[in-house]
Amino acid sequence: MTDTSGGDVRLTGISKTYGSFTAVHPLELTVPQGSFFALLGASGCGKTTTLRMIAGLEDPTTGTVFLGDKDVTDLPPYKRPVNTVFQSYALFPHLNVTENIAFGLRRRGIKSVKKQVDDMLELVQLGDFAHRKPHQLSGGQQQRVAVARALINHPQVLLLDEPLGALDLKLRRQMQLELKRIQTEVGITFIHVTHDQEEAMTMADTVAVMNGGRVEQLGAPADLYENPNTTFVANFLGTSNLIEAEVLEAGSDITVTASGAKLHLPAGRCSTSTPTRSGGKLLVGVRPEKISLAHADDAAKIPEGRNRITGRIADSSFIGVSTQYVIDSPVCPELEVYAQNIERDARLVPGAEVVLHWNPEHTFGLDAAQSMLAGTVGSAGTEEAA
Ligand SMILES: Nc1ncnc2c1ncn2[C@@H]1O[C@H](COP(=O)(O)OP(=O)(O)OP(=O)(O)O)[C@@H](O)[C@H]1O
Ligand SMILES: [Mg+2]
Repeated sequence: MTDTSGGDVRLTGISKTYGSFTAVHPLELTVPQGSFFALLGASGCGKTTTLRMIAGLEDPTTGTVFLGDKDVTDLPPYKRPVNTVFQSYALFPHLNVTENIAFGLRRRGIKSVKKQVDDMLELVQLGDFAHRKPHQLSGGQQQRVAVARALINHPQVLLLDEPLGALDLKLRRQMQLELKRIQTEVGITFIHVTHDQEEAMTMADTVAVMNGGRVEQLGAPADLYENPNTTFVANFLGTSNLIEAEVLEAGSDITVTASGAKLHLPAGRCSTSTPTRSGGKLLVGVRPEKISLAHADDAAKIPEGRNRITGRIADSSFIGVSTQYVIDSPVCPELEVYAQNIERDARLVPGAEVVLHWNPEHTFGLDAAQSMLAGTVGSAGTEEAA
């Protein structure tokens, strides 16, 4: 391992093509030192390829990989201050936990490993399992051994490729928090690859949403969620209701019309490509949890100044903390509304006439010249390539 002074991971113009197929389009990406960074995207969008180019396991077709000020593009993997944890963990089955963790030190000829291994065992809370073999451990425990085995080399950057993929949902959630704790404790840069948007949002300071070999948007989880720039991000990160509309009045507050309904949204919440002039076509976006439902009989009680749409409940599913409604409206088929289960209105059942209403501030605007379905489950947009 080479010692380089700390620094950001910087990819400039990095791309990868296989024959005529472009897996990663030229990419500009900076991962600040010490951050927890997630690469999020659907299967085949180029996450692993990007990670492997940072690790040195894949030669980029174009571009440069910097670690701090150092160009490492031509360095072999073992000379980069980078370690990778793969989905399969790849532990040595014949070695116990201690020896698996000590492996990197032993390979470098370091004899006295006890102190460092003990520190790692404590960090990943596996002190009682030091003498077990991998097959005597649960998936989550094996995963922690894999993390410890990588961290003992004091990499500048730890790359994690779907490391929680093999775990069941509950353990996955637990390990997400565990990995976040470890990262905060050791303070090194983690680059975590996942196709699970909740996982990315739970763990990362910064999420880069990838689509078809490109980073479509990058930002803090809450920022991406509240202000998606594209329909792909709006749909891939959680659920968005997207309503086709036309601008009536432009200003700092934009008034639009959608099938006769007048809606308002702040100009500041429109993506840069959104046409906000009068007559422009845009997509009005609102998240399902931002919408309140009122029975049509109570329409008069809805406060002034809220966006409102009428419709009929097509479907409702009780899922414990919330009830998820699907509403048919002339403005938009299949609007989704999530209502917390606090005081439930017994009249809100399928077939009921309702009014959906929400604060205009909670509305975002997107360019209508893109597929509304991009990023939804099963849409081709999640795997458009080259
Ligand atoms: N050696 C290769 N030869 C040709 N095509 C490849 C090769 N490796 C990867 N690809 C293609 O490049 C694209 C990106 O692959 P990559 O492994 O980076 O995807 P990913 O985002 O990690 O997906 P997943 O979530 O399924 O792991 C895919 O379409 C894949 O088929
Ligand atoms: Mg992958």
